[in-house]
Amino acid sequence: MQCQAFFDQLWRDYVQITPQAARIHELFRSRVDEIVNDHVALRTFNLSPIDIDSLEGHILALGYRRFEAYHFDEKHLDAWAYLPEDEHQPRIFFSQLLVEKLSSSAQKIIRGLVGQVPDHAARWQQVFFSGALWQLPSWQEYQQLLQESEYAAWLSVMGLRANHFTVSVNHLINPSLQSVVECLQQAGFELNQAGGVIKGNAQALLEQASTLADSMHIEFADGDRHSIKTCYYEFARRYTDANGALYQGFVPASADALFHSTDVR
Ligand code: NI
Repeated sequence: MQCQAFFDQLWRDYVQITPQAARIHELFRSRVDEIVNDHVALRTFNLSPIDIDSLEGHILALGYRRFEAYHFDEKHLDAWAYLPEDEHQPRIFFSQLLVEKLSSSAQKIIRGLVGQVPDHAARWQQVFFSGALWQLPSWQEYQQLLQESEYAAWLSVMGLRANHFTVSVNHLINPSLQSVVECLQQAGFELNQAGGVIKGNAQALLEQASTLADSMHIEFADGDRHSIKTCYYEFARRYTDANGALYQGFVPASADALFHSTDVR
């Protein structure tokens, strides 16, 4: 698959369950010729055949290279950032939950889900926008996962798809994250306040802000219907370092706060 086709499909799947993203996209498209994405974030479990090791070949095949590894101890997550060949394509931030760090009952639920993934499903790039490749958990199982890991609960229902797209504020006509935040607030969008609305600063070479995720009614395995968080939209402003090179990495403390954009509580 061509890189552009891959991101077009990833975006189509994402806006279907994140209608705010389409509205915000329109809001900013009126101010710039083309909205460039800073990065997209993907989530998975660290279980074969959908762990990072099994799936990263698809990312490398799109012309990406591994950049930096990250670890989030409290959230039991590992992540890799990948850089594109073409700077108009987004960076990819791919995280995975370290399932073995959860309780044995949570592990059993997750292994039951991933055990249903058909062998062929992971062989194609489409896996990244295929959603839940398993029967959804019961509401009770979902609650059990939620107690230990918001990330696990989210992934058990939403499956594999973009968790968020991120607008590159550098490419807007007015490259100020503060003005983006004001514009979103004026338009009535709710922003993630964890760690402050703007996470990071110019000294850290990266500023980020995000909306709170949209919600959607989901029917769980036992027939219970509940509203759960889907995906959110993010905004990033990057700065150049002392050598004049644009910062390419991610600031772990900010990423940690941004994971809360899909929190239920
Ligand atoms: Ni992000």
